Amino acid sequence: MLVAAHRGSSGTAPENTMAAFREAVNAEADLIELDVRFTRDLEPVVIHDRLLRRTTGGRGDVNRYTVDELEQFDAGSWFAPRFAGERIPLLRRVLQELPVRIGINIEVKADGDRRSKALLVQHLCSVIHAYGTHRSLLVSSFDHRFLRVLHRQDPLVPLGVLLHPLRDVARRPSHLARRLHAGFILCSRTMVRRAIVEQAHAHGVKVGVYTVNRVIDLDRLRRFGVDLVFTNFPSAIRMALRNA
Ligand code: G3P
Ligand code: MG
Repeated sequence: MLVAAHRGSSGTAPENTMAAFREAVNAEADLIELDVRFTRDLEPVVIHDRLLRRTTGGRGDVNRYTVDELEQFDAGSWFAPRFAGERIPLLRRVLQELPVRIGINIEVKADGDRRSKALLVQHLCSVIHAYGTHRSLLVSSFDHRFLRVLHRQDPLVPLGVLLHPLRDVARRPSHLARRLHAGFILCSRTMVRRAIVEQAHAHGVKVGVYTVNRVIDLDRLRRFGVDLVFTNFPSAIRMALRNA
């Protein structure tokens, strides 16, 4: 079972910062999951929310700022004073700076972004091609149209389909994965069922589940045969798997 550090080691450091990513590397996570949005000047940056407020105290939407303007925001203090000075990371820096042995799951968040998918895809792909081709990558999104456009632009980028708990509940995950050329389906802990895992596996599709922070949940998902778990505590989950 693979361990993905959800927004980095976000239980022990501020989510989606270099500090959280370094802790995930030290915890020997197999992958880091991070959320990507696009600045006004179309730079992919790593932040979960559409709005700056929760994690930086800034005003308004991430995509109203240029990459240079985002430099002013502190993305660490909200979590604990010792993380003051953490910035909103640029995807290109993350891909450059983290050791190649750790995989990166880029979750694209395009909600609230009215620009064309093709334009956003083009800018994501140019960063991936420049900085990401030497390592294991997985691009995922709840925005399935984004994934479709991405596959058209570069069929070699490995994809994961995020299942929306309401929109996708009645859909056959493996059909969705096949239609979108995705090797993974990713769903929440409350949505996953043994039948979903079996149906996906029968079609050669792997299954990832978020967010798994408790050993009792981990054990249940191991019994289901889940391939990948996203956790905010990669160190603890890695240890639980070693002792299992
Ligand atoms: O990619 C899995 C998970 O991160 C999706 O939900 O809101 O944590 O980005 P969220
Ligand atoms: Mg995410």
